[in-house]
Amino acid sequence: MQDLNFRESWATRIGFILAASGSAVGLGNIWRFPYMTGEHGGAAFLVIYLVAIILIGYPVMINEVILGRKTNKNPVGAFKALAPNTPWWLVGALGVFTGFVILSYYSVVAGWSLAYIYKVVLSATAAEIDHAEVFVGHITSVWEPIIWQAIFMILTVSIIAAGVVKGIQKWVTILMPAILVLLVILIIRAVTLPGAGEGLAYYLQPNFGDVGPRTFLGAISQAFFTLSLGMGAIITYGSYLREKDEIPGNSASVVGLDTGIAIMAGLAIFPAVFALGFSPDGGPGLVFITLPAVFAEMPLGVLFGLLFFILLSIAALTSAISLLEVVTAWLIDEKGWTRGSAAVTMGIIIFVVGLPTTLGYSVLSDVTFPGLGMDMLDTYDWFANSIFLPLGGLLTAIFVGYIWGARNAVQEGNKNAGLISLGNWWVLLIRYVVPALILVIMIMGIYDTFFGG
Ligand code: PHE
Repeated sequence: MQDLNFRESWATRIGFILAASGSAVGLGNIWRFPYMTGEHGGAAFLVIYLVAIILIGYPVMINEVILGRKTNKNPVGAFKALAPNTPWWLVGALGVFTGFVILSYYSVVAGWSLAYIYKVVLSATAAEIDHAEVFVGHITSVWEPIIWQAIFMILTVSIIAAGVVKGIQKWVTILMPAILVLLVILIIRAVTLPGAGEGLAYYLQPNFGDVGPRTFLGAISQAFFTLSLGMGAIITYGSYLREKDEIPGNSASVVGLDTGIAIMAGLAIFPAVFALGFSPDGGPGLVFITLPAVFAEMPLGVLFGLLFFILLSIAALTSAISLLEVVTAWLIDEKGWTRGSAAVTMGIIIFVVGLPTTLGYSVLSDVTFPGLGMDMLDTYDWFANSIFLPLGGLLTAIFVGYIWGARNAVQEGNKNAGLISLGNWWVLLIRYVVPALILVIMIMGIYDTFFGG
């Protein structure tokens, strides 16, 4: 009963755009997108990523919103409702599991951002400080990152346990404009640094020479991750939608906003990377090393730096909430747990499961995953985003396209449709284009990752 009230009160108060963009915009845009772009060669990756957003991300987003609103259920319940007594609920279960894995390391990176709120104050005051050293120093210490990881997890659990998810509406209305303004300021500073041109060229002039199966796999993993797709977060959020909310246009706004913020993050980072002599393929530390160096070059840099990492932490929090909400909603709906005990228990387990990724830079720094050659954090990230999310998206598309029926979905999705309405174009995408692209890219990309040398 408590849960029903919760669902309904949220549905009447919050617009889908706000909730879903709170989930979508997070570390994926500002932390993961730039370093993935940097690891996969720059502009060519950007182009492939944008194509993936349009051909896969957007139709899959619509798909998940429809499933959620139609069934009013968590991901497991949604599949059970539309295909009772079949094993399709396992797709929902895969989603719950994936959310669990993502949050376990997401909170580690979000913890870095929290830690930077004070580190940046110290480091940005002195331009000559070695920012790479600050970052490496932080992640290679044993206890510091664990404590910040724990703090972030406690914040996430408190919000979910209290059921005050409604509050994120307020956060998000302040957060989105603030992030946009700050990014514009950062972009202006970055592109006017001497030597910025090289970075702009790297980011905007595609060279498809080095593109391979791994580039494509990286691009779809980023598309799923950044839009919170493939694991049921958008199904769960869609379940809080009202009948009178329209779906295709609202989904387009979320996709547009999320993509815009990622593109802007790249514009702020790559010119600075080249101008300040960093390497674009530096991996997960890229943003944490580059941006403090940019702040150090700015008047009032300390203030901007502080503001930036506060905003990044809040953006991470509104995404983490959606990750934990999936797991929690499943325990409440399907297993009869209370909200408080579900959130707290899962929070503790997820924290423990995430510990190897924190320790991957200190105690476990010699451990790599066999065949992948990646550290702990990259390994978690790779399995979650290159395997589980696209697989979840693929199976969900097949389910709607062939089992429940694309026409049923179109009917649900077109209730109160506005400017954009679903039609053959969407049916074609969800039945053929999405499954075929994901399947081919996954098979080739995974093969290449393990055997491509
Ligand atoms: N989309 C979030 C981000 O970009 C991460 C996320 C993935 C959230 C999957 C929910 C589900 O930071």
